[in-house]
Amino acid sequence: MWVVTWEGPADQADWLLCEDGLAGAEEIELDGGHRRLRLFFSDAVRAREVARHAAGTIAWESDEPPLAYQQQWAPIPVGRRFFLRPPWLIDQPPPGRIELIMQPGAIFGSGDHATTQLCLILLGETVTPGDIVIDAGTGTGILGIAAGLLGAERVYAFDLDPAAVTMSRRSVEEAGTTVHLWAGSWDSCRGGVATGLVANLPGGLLLDAVSDLLPLVRPGGWMILSGILPEHRPPLEQKLGARPLRWREQDGWLGLVAQL
Ligand SMILES: C[S@@+](CC[C@H](N)C(=O)[O-])C[C@H]1O[C@@H](n2cnc3c(N)ncnc32)[C@H](O)[C@@H]1O
Repeated sequence: MWVVTWEGPADQADWLLCEDGLAGAEEIELDGGHRRLRLFFSDAVRAREVARHAAGTIAWESDEPPLAYQQQWAPIPVGRRFFLRPPWLIDQPPPGRIELIMQPGAIFGSGDHATTQLCLILLGETVTPGDIVIDAGTGTGILGIAAGLLGAERVYAFDLDPAAVTMSRRSVEEAGTTVHLWAGSWDSCRGGVATGLVANLPGGLLLDAVSDLLPLVRPGGWMILSGILPEHRPPLEQKLGARPLRWREQDGWLGLVAQL
């Protein structure tokens, strides 16, 4: 369960108790006419919206979410290399697949979205041992973790959102791999070090970012991009010039590997 914690004047608490998607709440009366609320959500995106709007804090408070919630999730084989499962399922990965344990419902990064899966599939086909990989806009860290588990020698991952970095630190630790993580944007990264880069960003943002991302990778390296809708394809192809591209589609979304 996602828990949003908020403290403030009691008369401002009532509207929070009417939020859509609220699965339950705890209220504690504090001195000075203040109240502390703990608001429970099973949907991470909703919890995040409420936390942002109310200036509260958000956390995943239990590794043992209620049974009804746990039963909504099953392991997902992704491409030919990965086996994605929530922490409470103990299914063993089929032979040859790499286990990725991610908290379902995590904000756009737990692996169940088609754009993330496109990146995972393309990483599985592209990463070779010794690669130095940048995960730009890491979210919960899933793509950086995947690159590390595929044998990348070093993985650097950053996100503009410090809360995403906090979450990804936990996932990296649990995965037992090494990812160098920080909060920042493209300009926080030194150019020409990486042999590969992966970025799953909303298509419009990707179009703006691609000319900043290209210099981060050495000539001869690769770049995996996703979050692309069909209308973004022509302008993106134009920005990538004559570089060889391999496209892949899932559920109406596009992903690509560019050779640099
Ligand atoms: C669509 S999510 C992808 C998360 C994860 N990589 C995945 O594939 O599931 C995009 C992420 O990019 C981050 N982001 C957006 N603009 C950014 C920027 N300028 N620099 C770094 N990260 C950025 C967002 O905070 C968000 O976590």
